[in-house]
Amino acid sequence: MTGWAAVERYLVDTVVQPDEALTGAVDATAAAGMPAIEVTPTQGKFLMLLARIQGARRILEIGTLGGFSTIWLARGVPDDGLVDTCEYEQAHAEVARQNLDQAGEGHKVTIHVGAALDTLPTLTGPYDLFFIDADKANNPRYLDWAIRLSRPGSVIVLDNVVRGGTVLETNGDDAVRGTREALELLGSHPQLEATAIQTVGSKDWDGFAVAVVVAAAA
Ligand SMILES: C[S@@+](CC[C@H](N)C(=O)[O-])C[C@H]1O[C@@H](n2cnc3c(N)ncnc32)[C@H](O)[C@@H]1O
Repeated sequence: MTGWAAVERYLVDTVVQPDEALTGAVDATAAAGMPAIEVTPTQGKFLMLLARIQGARRILEIGTLGGFSTIWLARGVPDDGLVDTCEYEQAHAEVARQNLDQAGEGHKVTIHVGAALDTLPTLTGPYDLFFIDADKANNPRYLDWAIRLSRPGSVIVLDNVVRGGTVLETNGDDAVRGTREALELLGSHPQLEATAIQTVGSKDWDGFAVAVVVAAAA
């Protein structure tokens, strides 16, 4: 292993130090035949720290997969905190439930199975932190829902905004189109202050955006 991936390995081993519940969650996700598209441990721990810095008690995640990022988010809230997470695939939700329970975080987490756009209207805000990491074509819709379910001071994280540089393609696929539209919304929405950060590592060249809600909905 060389380059970005080797540096990430070093940072994970030296700084992040994921425990057996977290490494086991990644292994169980792979063993279930699910894609290895979870966040890296460095990003997962960043989400946990962001939740703690924010003093988050209620978190909404869109895109659960096997619950790797969900475990980190759940570890960011106090023991009576709550994480709602939306997942389309029943099979993914079942693996996530097992991983969350094994990590001792299951009591904080509700997994909503189905299309997130059907679940979101049934939820009641405000949430303190949002992590958007599902079908990228719907990113603008998810961002809109996050704003509706927010309060001034809520933080929104949107994953995979660089996509190996394909975000520059003006005629890109649905994921690129959805990501570009969401980024434009982040840059122009009167209720948001936002930035976007490029990342490299085991998941190659990508990035995430972070926004804070600065005003209440009109
Ligand atoms: C990138 S993975 C999530 C990874 C997870 N956040 C992590 O880092 O561990 C995206 C997930 O979103 C789910 N998904 C895709 N379309 C969805 C939809 N319309 N509603 C809810 N979940 C969806 C996929 O089934 C997949 O499990």
